[in-house]
Amino acid sequence: MKLYSNPASPFARKVIVGFWEVNAINEVEVINVIGNPVDSGDIPITENPLGKLPTLVGTPFGTLYDSRVITQFIDRHCDGDLYPSSNLFETMKMEALADGIMDAAVLMTYEKRVRSEDKQSKVWVDGQWVKINRSLDALESNAKEFLNSSFNIAHIALGSALGYLDFRHSDRAWRSGHPKLNEWCEEISQRPSMVATKPE
Ligand code: BEZ
Repeated sequence: MKLYSNPASPFARKVIVGFWEVNAINEVEVINVIGNPVDSGDIPITENPLGKLPTLVGTPFGTLYDSRVITQFIDRHCDGDLYPSSNLFETMKMEALADGIMDAAVLMTYEKRVRSEDKQSKVWVDGQWVKINRSLDALESNAKEFLNSSFNIAHIALGSALGYLDFRHSDRAWRSGHPKLNEWCEEISQRPSMVATKPE
């Protein structure tokens, strides 16, 4: 299987960490490509007409996207436990929360990268940060049980999201005011899967 990816993409990181965590990283060849919302670049649009990453080619079900579809596939194909059936909907909800943090953070990046300075909207960028910060606050106050539960897709997604905040939005200092998340992030960042995929 070939995974179209980009080392900066938190969604692609989530998928690659998924392959690592089910011991199937050797089943996939990672191909790094470059594109953005207004120019699909070398992302294979014949495989994914949305021109988005990650896109997984060569599965028994053909080409798969987006990250949630791919991680569900990885879990079933490799007999993993990324989506524990005992806690399935809570896991999927927390995955959606982490994916939403990634979405907002990537939109902030592209607002600055793709639009000329005079067209950038501070209100809009700050609005994305409000969503992120509110989600981090909710995790900090309510997620003790979640953070301490066995490592699953929601933890992978959250680790990828927080790693992306460090990578692209370190000026926002997400760790300040979120000590439990900070400690959790430090701990899971030591996992071989997270070390191998750290964006730089
Ligand atoms: C980035 O450079 O921040 C980025 C690249 C690919 C996908 C998402 C974000």
